[in-house]
Amino acid sequence: MMQDVMAIVMAAGKGTRMKSKNSKLIQKIYGKEIVKRAVENAKKAGIEDIVAVVGYMKEQVMEVLKDSTKYVEQKEMLGTGHAVMQATKYLEGKKGKVLVLNGDVPILRPETINKLLRKSIENNEYATLLTAIYDDPKGYGRIIRDEGGNIKEIVEEKDATEEQREIQEINAGIYCFDIEILLEALKEIKPNNSQGEYYLTDVIKIIGNKGLKTGAVIVKDNTEILGVNDRMQLQMLTKILQHRINTEHMNNGVTIEDINTTYIYDDVEIGMDTVIHPNTTIKSDVKIGQDCEIGPNSYIREGCRLEDKVKIGSFVEIKKAIIGEGTKVPHLSYMGDCQIGEHTNIGCGTITCNYDGFNKSKTIIGDNCFVGSNTNFVAPVKLGDNTFIAAGSTITEDVPEYSLAIARQRQINKENWNKK
Ligand code: UD1
Ligand code: MG
Repeated sequence: MMQDVMAIVMAAGKGTRMKSKNSKLIQKIYGKEIVKRAVENAKKAGIEDIVAVVGYMKEQVMEVLKDSTKYVEQKEMLGTGHAVMQATKYLEGKKGKVLVLNGDVPILRPETINKLLRKSIENNEYATLLTAIYDDPKGYGRIIRDEGGNIKEIVEEKDATEEQREIQEINAGIYCFDIEILLEALKEIKPNNSQGEYYLTDVIKIIGNKGLKTGAVIVKDNTEILGVNDRMQLQMLTKILQHRINTEHMNNGVTIEDINTTYIYDDVEIGMDTVIHPNTTIKSDVKIGQDCEIGPNSYIREGCRLEDKVKIGSFVEIKKAIIGEGTKVPHLSYMGDCQIGEHTNIGCGTITCNYDGFNKSKTIIGDNCFVGSNTNFVAPVKLGDNTFIAAGSTITEDVPEYSLAIARQRQINKENWNKK
């Protein structure tokens, strides 16, 4: 039987600790907003139907998420339970599962979301929580289990007894609920706690008291559930994501000489036996072939496609560059909006002048070309195969195949001039 699977992303919070004029949810990690990451993680887990609960600076959040989610507004911050209540109009009449996710938890793995969903379906659980074991559980809701290990309730730090505060299993704030049972349970939540809030966590006890099964998945990698509240956490999560992405590439056969100074954004493909030297940044939407060498100190921007055995050396920036097999751009170049054939050598300091202040134009370079050092290509311009460009040339016109182009002033030597 087909079931509905949907998600609610809580994105109404204020986030004062970020000290920003903007919503903390639109701060970026590797070029992508925190809240967008949270939503994309749910999408990657296969969940299409997503409702975002927005409030504080909702226009900013909605501008980032666009039509990737539906929206409901939470006008007053009366607690996580109250946030979810705002979304009831989208839950009514549905049968199946709803995941509740935090908009400020950006590096949760889609596989973990799936695991939670699968466990709740396979075990017929009406509420399934994601929990973690922390050495220092301070600040989090604690998981209270009975002697049989079944979850009884979640107690917030502020409401917990001394004894309960010793519990190291915490609530990650990520849940999978049966939609119909959640709707019933939400009606029973009361703000009778130390913070005067409607706690979403109270539905666990309510569901349990109905004699319905609840359960948990204990997350293996505790970093997944980290939220972002201030700039230091923003940096911490960036570093965690950096290591995670770099490790994935290494597991796929890429050599990364320095995991700490290599910045590879999302959605980058790199072939086997390619070597990435230190201080290199590779942005999203880039494909790099096998046996390439990239860096050190290089910057591969969006839209680049590198075939096998390409070398991008030190202090090189490339953008929307399509580069053929065995071609080398070894030092100090900017190659943007260009297409370069196979086995071509681009000399040190070569630059594509791709922007005239209004339009971006293309530079096309053929196979087996030799471009001398310090060449400027004033785009649009095209070089045939097997062309040779004299060093220091400023190329403004197309060069036919097998030609030598020299486009610079001739040198004049004035003898004995410096004796005067
Ligand atoms: C919550 C959980 C706690 C858990 C912790 C994990 C409750 C009562 N407690 O606590 O058990 O250990 O998360 O991080 O749920 N939000 C709204 N509207 C509101 C209140 C919150 O949208 O009215 C959003 C926040 O922006 C945030 C999320 O819900 O994204 C969690 O709220 P937060 O205040 O951080 O909850 P905690 O007190 O940390
Ligand atoms: Mg919190």
